[in-house]
Amino acid sequence: MMKYGYFDGDNKEYVITKPNTPAPWANYLGSPEYGAIISNNAGGYSFVKSGANGRIIRYRFNSTPADQPGRYIYIRDREMADYWSASWQPVGKDLSEYESECRHGTAYTAMKSKYKGIETDTLYYVPLDKTYEVWRLKVTNQDERPRKLSLFGYVEFTNDANYEQDTVNLQYTQFISKTYFRENMILQAINEHVSEVGGGASGLSDEAGEGIWRFFGVQGAEVNRYDGDRDIFVGDYRGYQNPASVEQGACTNTLNYNGNSCGALQIDVELAPGETKEIVFLLGAYGEADARQILGRYETLTVVEEELQELKSYWHSKLDRFQVQTPDDNFNQMVNVWNAYQCFITFIWSRAASFQYCGLRNGLGYRDTVQDIQGIMHLEPELARERLTLMLSAQVSNGGGLPLVKFDHRPGHEGTPDDPDYARETGHPFYRADDALWLFPTTIRYLKESGNWAYVDEVIPFSDQGEGTVYEHLRRAIQFSIDRLGEHGMPVGLHADWNDALRLGAHGESLFVAFQLYLALGVYKEIAAHKQDDAQVHWAEQLRAALGDNIQKHAWEGDRFVRGFTEDGYVVGSRENEEASLWLNPQTWSILSGFAEPEQARTAMDLVYEQLNTEYGAMLFYPPFKKFGLPVARMALFNGTTKENAGIFSQPQGWLIQAETMLGRGNRAYQYFTEINPAAMNDKAEIRKIEPYVHGQSIEGIDSPFFGRGHVHWLTGTASTVMVSLAEGIMGVQPTFDGLRLDPCIPSTWSEFSMYREFRSKRLRIKVENPNHVEKGVAKVMLNGEELEGNLLPDDRLRENNDVLVLMG
Ligand code: GLC
Repeated sequence: MMKYGYFDGDNKEYVITKPNTPAPWANYLGSPEYGAIISNNAGGYSFVKSGANGRIIRYRFNSTPADQPGRYIYIRDREMADYWSASWQPVGKDLSEYESECRHGTAYTAMKSKYKGIETDTLYYVPLDKTYEVWRLKVTNQDERPRKLSLFGYVEFTNDANYEQDTVNLQYTQFISKTYFRENMILQAINEHVSEVGGGASGLSDEAGEGIWRFFGVQGAEVNRYDGDRDIFVGDYRGYQNPASVEQGACTNTLNYNGNSCGALQIDVELAPGETKEIVFLLGAYGEADARQILGRYETLTVVEEELQELKSYWHSKLDRFQVQTPDDNFNQMVNVWNAYQCFITFIWSRAASFQYCGLRNGLGYRDTVQDIQGIMHLEPELARERLTLMLSAQVSNGGGLPLVKFDHRPGHEGTPDDPDYARETGHPFYRADDALWLFPTTIRYLKESGNWAYVDEVIPFSDQGEGTVYEHLRRAIQFSIDRLGEHGMPVGLHADWNDALRLGAHGESLFVAFQLYLALGVYKEIAAHKQDDAQVHWAEQLRAALGDNIQKHAWEGDRFVRGFTEDGYVVGSRENEEASLWLNPQTWSILSGFAEPEQARTAMDLVYEQLNTEYGAMLFYPPFKKFGLPVARMALFNGTTKENAGIFSQPQGWLIQAETMLGRGNRAYQYFTEINPAAMNDKAEIRKIEPYVHGQSIEGIDSPFFGRGHVHWLTGTASTVMVSLAEGIMGVQPTFDGLRLDPCIPSTWSEFSMYREFRSKRLRIKVENPNHVEKGVAKVMLNGEELEGNLLPDDRLRENNDVLVLMG
């Protein structure tokens, strides 16, 4: 098996040494204000505010190669008439002659190349809080003779900020875009004269009545020649691998008028042996005056190094709040850097833009977003709270969640899924049964992480009308489910529960939601008890007991929990079924919710291990649906053991790991993690295909000829569930109202590990010893030299800096 790269933990980077990776391996730059996705071959796109409506760089979804075009820098040797690119692609020189290294770091990507005595060093990033991008290029002559080179920076602009218009409405968009050359930069104008012709008319790409401007400029060198027309630069019957202007060694000074705009800037240099030339390309959606200012900022090229340092310290300081050193380096890389970074990326970007998501969704999905918050809770609880408050303000006054929270969400003034306007605007005419119930695990985690008890009483508006405290919001979320119980006394499935492809409708019932509600009632009761609100404690207790009785009576089949009931009485996930007779989520959620009896839990989880587990994780259920299908089991539309149709869906793997740690089975929890740990697949990249440093949405299961192949990189709820399962479950760092509980659940082979954790602004250095090789159990805890009773570090005994010793046994 081939290895394409390795983890550089000290620098928090993944280093790709073989550029011909089995899929484009990507990184994120900037933020959705100015967002950029970049592959290890410099492919990818950029946008302002919206991947779909603010696209700057053109990108062809689902094309081959899968990451073109991008941010290309070509180098041509004028004497040898040979040319290559600073990233291996697009020119794609023979790898026996061309060496490269790509370092994906925290919000920057750096690339090196070596070819025929010339070295390049390229750095791509979006400066912190800025809305343009920087490509810094250093070219060094390692040869013994002077070399004459031409450098070409190339970017292909969209002709319309809306990517669909740009892609398919060519009879319109090709006639609204032009380019200009002004000293050292190409400017692109879209609908340049819109204000003169009465801008703001619908259909024009900029509703405000201003034309759109983009620039691509260079600092640190004089531009010798340029092209502003893509078809001239690339040439007829050619591609990015052999653009005509590069091959001929001269851009043609042609600008775009009624074609495809691009920015191609040619810089001729002559380098003495050992000499380095440094230049900076800058790209953004600005007109000339702003562009000049931006270029001006880089007159002193050291600004780049300062900005890079700034980015690193910004990101590293977040990630450094929780660091672990265990015997498994693949585990460490994920907890310390990549899983945590992916949590921030999914938190910030939601499902907005990737090589699969084009950015068309104009808002935040309720369930995804509320869950994403949990992934960053241990690193940035106050940022988590802000987003949680937004999501609470998107809760309808009837207690349900808005399926889609629009980017311009106006609390108190939104329609509901029952309103035709909301439904038309968002495409969501139905409530989901699970949405608002995600608030419980997220809110309780915030309260326990922060200790900010006052949050419970904070007043937040509902999305449509009225307002209430956080406590009241939670009560109504419960009420929403209680108002919608089915025949067996369990919540109905509505349009979907966590599983987007399961339609149990207004009468069928969902066990997933039943367990969510069970958990919710437990959380609510805990909060009510803390508030000494006996009436509410009693209310929650009674509902919980009744729900529990119903689950026990109707949903337990002796070795498994079923998945649900359709309105005509079919039991989804029953052992009697020919298809989908054992489901993963009801078993894990029976434990996460606190419902299952220990014996029941072990039986069900052993069955999961026997029947659903594979070497690449556990399948969502088995066997896949083939006959039973619509309208209930929409997943039957997917190929077998793929995605929701019995694939190894990644997000539930976090729940699986966590559930095993709750049972005290550290070996199994760790095995499950290792099976899906991206880093552990670093030497099986040909099988997994996607980046070995991030989770994808799903992995193909055993019936697929591509068993083990991963899909839909980066933006997935997996980041948060797995992070929580590692931090709280395996590492066992569990915030409580009163302090921090330490209860690791680890593989018995580990004899020790250590952690650094910040908690409520206190710093803790924690050493865990496991001399008897147990999986779980704490025999002794020492806090700053004093032995504690039990395994809770009380908040009021923590100093600024703390040394903690945990003895397992
Ligand atoms: C996707 C969706 C998520 C859903 C899951 C299972 O990941 O983003 O909302 O829960 O699929 O269907």
